[in-house]
Amino acid sequence: MRLSRRHVLGAGAAIAAPAIAIEGPRHSRRFEPEVTRLEITVPSLHPAHDGVKIAHLTDIHVGMSTPDELVLRAIQIANDSQPDLVALTGDFVTRGRGPVERMPEVLAGLKAPTFASLGNHDHWAGARAVRRQLEKLGYEVLQNANTSFRVRGEDLSIVGVDDGMTRSDDVPRAFRGAAMNGSRLTLIHTPRTADLLPANQGMFVLAGHTHGGQVVVPFVTYALLRNLLRENYIRGRFNVNGNELYVSRGVGMTGPSFRMGAPSEVGIFTLRAAPAA
Ligand SMILES: [Fe+2]
Repeated sequence: MRLSRRHVLGAGAAIAAPAIAIEGPRHSRRFEPEVTRLEITVPSLHPAHDGVKIAHLTDIHVGMSTPDELVLRAIQIANDSQPDLVALTGDFVTRGRGPVERMPEVLAGLKAPTFASLGNHDHWAGARAVRRQLEKLGYEVLQNANTSFRVRGEDLSIVGVDDGMTRSDDVPRAFRGAAMNGSRLTLIHTPRTADLLPANQGMFVLAGHTHGGQVVVPFVTYALLRNLLRENYIRGRFNVNGNELYVSRGVGMTGPSFRMGAPSEVGIFTLRAAPAA
């Protein structure tokens, strides 16, 4: 049997169910994502972009397993942080047409310029339709494409690489025509895509996909993610071939509608230029 990511998360959840029952539900925290605030030194950053703030939301998974209130709260947190831009790194839905149709209602309201890459679930649900819904909201979708965004008087280049799990990723195409120096942000979905990016570029790279394990059973969940899904960067910060990668635990859920040991997350990142040599 070919094991999918849903099977992996589901297996973890099944093993973890008794522990959740002992802990009891945490109703007060159910709709409150954890906020990760980090300053990231980005070697390629233009000095004018020192202090630029990025809000990062990923794996929102509009659908049965993710309460709308959780997503609305994540959007509110992003807006309250007054970012210069918002980065979305895929898996807006889980499956089926219904959640795709509900996307504008649930995902509306991000105030800063917003840029998105797509994830495996978006492809499974229908990438064209997901893209259309994001564009209706005024969010720019970068499927193996790049754009340039004027912020604080200077260009910031944003590259979006499409999902690696469905083999929709095309890194050379994504970088075609992109600035080869200066401030660059790369949006991917599967963390392993970071291994394919141009090395030693000093770029900031954002990813999701793993949910940080979603239901973390010690010694089991991470082993499943590594061995079956070939994901070595499961959560948090990594330097991958000279680029700065952050893998978010994401906002929503797939499979079981709960998390353990991997709370929902909104990232608020402040970019810092490397000190002058
Ligand atoms: Fe994914």
